[in-house]
Parts: sequence; C-alpha cells; structure tokens
Amino acid sequence: MNNTLPSQPPAHIPDFIYGTAWKEDRTPALTELALRMGFRGIDTANQRRHYFEAGVGQGLAAAYRAGLLTRGDLFLQTKFTHRAGQDQRLPYDPAATLSVQVAQSMASSLEHLGTEHVDCYVLHGPSSNHEWSDDDTEAWEAMRGERDAGRARYLGISNVSLRHLQQMADACAELPAVIQNRCYARLGWDRDVRGFCREHKIIYQGFSLLTANQEVLNHPLIASLATGAKATAAQVVFSFARSVGILPLTGTSNAWHMKQDLASRVVVLHPEAIHAIESLAG
Ligand SMILES: NC(=O)c1ccc[n+]([C@@H]2O[C@H](COP(=O)([O-])OP(=O)(O)OC[C@H]3O[C@@H](n4cnc5c(N)ncnc54)[C@H](OP(=O)(O)O)[C@@H]3O)[C@@H](O)[C@H]2O)c1
Repeated sequence: MNNTLPSQPPAHIPDFIYGTAWKEDRTPALTELALRMGFRGIDTANQRRHYFEAGVGQGLAAAYRAGLLTRGDLFLQTKFTHRAGQDQRLPYDPAATLSVQVAQSMASSLEHLGTEHVDCYVLHGPSSNHEWSDDDTEAWEAMRGERDAGRARYLGISNVSLRHLQQMADACAELPAVIQNRCYARLGWDRDVRGFCREHKIIYQGFSLLTANQEVLNHPLIASLATGAKATAAQVVFSFARSVGILPLTGTSNAWHMKQDLASRVVVLHPEAIHAIESLAG
C-alpha cells in the first residue's frame, strides 16, 4: 500500500481522463501505459462487472515503482455502485444498510488503489433511471461522510438526467462537484445537464463521445474540420468537447490513440465550427 498522501492536491483536475472499464486482465498494463503516455486522470469503479479496480491499482503501483509519477501527480476517481448495477462479486455486504455499504465499498477501493484517499468519489448512477430516491439520498449522505473523513476530495454522480438533479437539489443539502454522463450528440451533447452544470459550477465529464456518436464522426462537417486542422475526426470531437466545457474521457486500448487523444488538446476550433458541431445532431 502506498501511504503517501500528496503534500499538495493536484493543482487542478486534468483535462483528459483515462477510463478503465472493460479491460479485464489488460487493466494493469493499460493503466500503466496510459500513465506513460501522459494521462494523469484515471477513472474506475468498484464494480467488478465492468471494471477491475484492483488491476488499476496494480498499474498504478507499477508506474510508481518505475518512478513515472507519485500519487500526488494523479487525479484518481472511483465509484460506489448500487446492488442492482453489480454482479455477484460485491465489494460490500448486500444485507448491510446503504451507509455501511458505502463505507465498505470505499475501504475496498482504497485497498485496491493503494491509497488513503481518492480525488473524486462518484455515485455510479441513481438507483432508478427516472427518479432520485431515498436510497440515493442515503448513499449520497454516506459519501459526504467519507469525504468529510478525508477519504475523498470531491463527490460526483454519474448517469443523471436533469430531473434527477432537480429532485436531488430538493432532497439533499449538497450538489455534486462532478457529473459524469454519456454524451449523445443527438441530445445536443447532453445540453440540459450541461446547462445545469454551468449554472451550479459543476464539472461535467463526458464519456462515449466517440462510441455514442458514430454519425457525427462520419459527418462531412467533421471531416472537413479535421482536414483543415490537420487532425483526425476523433481529435475534432475531443477538441469540441473541451471547447464547450466537457471534460472528456477516453477508454482507448491503443497506444497510438492515447497519443492522438491527448494531442487533441492543441487542436483549436473556431467559434463558428464549435457552434456548428454543437447543433449538428440535436
Ligand atoms: N459512469 C458510467 O456509467 C460509465 C459508463 C461507461 C463508461 N464510463 C467511463 O468512461 C470511460 C470511457 O468510455 P467510453 O465509452 O468513452 O470509451 P470506450 O468505449 O472505452 O473506448 C473508446 C472507443 O473509441 C476508440 N477510440 C479512442 N480514441 C480513438 C481515436 N483517437 N481514434 C479512433 N478511435 C478511438 C477506442 O478504440 P481503440 O481501443 O481501438 O482505440 C474505443 O473503441 C470508461 O472506461 C469508463 O471509465 C463510465
């Protein structure tokens, strides 16, 4: 276990986050590779069904051993997942209260990741797609307790609608610092939730920017902007995302794509191009 707490928190949240879902046995090597390529934000979850969080910890440990970086250089984000989102490999006692489940899941995450705190702890989606429920409030209050005890710096929520957020605002004393959502171009790139985030100074993280938007990647407008910027269509999408305040995630397993994705930071789009992409599909 790496017990070193950063003497200073990362000065800011990195402008690209590497996502570790669906990598199974390749998780340690791909996490280490992403760090070698320059990613400093890592997203995972204590949900064995889609993530191998202990494998992320192995990748981090390998990077520390190699002297690539220290814990203080990283933005580490993980999640608490309700029972319905898990398979039988649970990081908590399903018979325990939600508050206890959150504490058990967090303790297990810290052990997996070899750290004493995470930078962001995310509720991995409300328990219902439609409503914010009492269970969500209980989990959220327990997460606030974890944060107040120093085991997380920020709190977040993923897979939320504007309705969830409005109901949450009525039910809870505190809104998240981070929202992480799948970003569909056909829904105006999640325009409603992004608007809520702007209003409440919440960081909006977008995932599936490429996989959910194949029609955009193949659109002639993107092709011509990519040619003009000497970039790829994927780079144009990531650059666009950042321009409208979306902090992008990528889950690439390919070293060349990691490099290209990070290089999208220097792809600059004109305001008219940003506006055209924003209204391309929704
Ligand atoms: N909160 C949630 O419920 C939730 C849900 C889903 C995902 N997430 C998080 O978001 C992360 C990312 O997920 P995602 O859905 O955005 O990505 P993803 O599906 O894991 O991977 C991105 C896809 O885009 C391709 N790609 C990446 N860069 C490319 C490039 N430069 N050119 C061409 N193709 C490229 C990748 O192919 P190659 O591998 O061949 O590059 C891959 O097929 C996940 O790992 C997870 O951490 C969270």
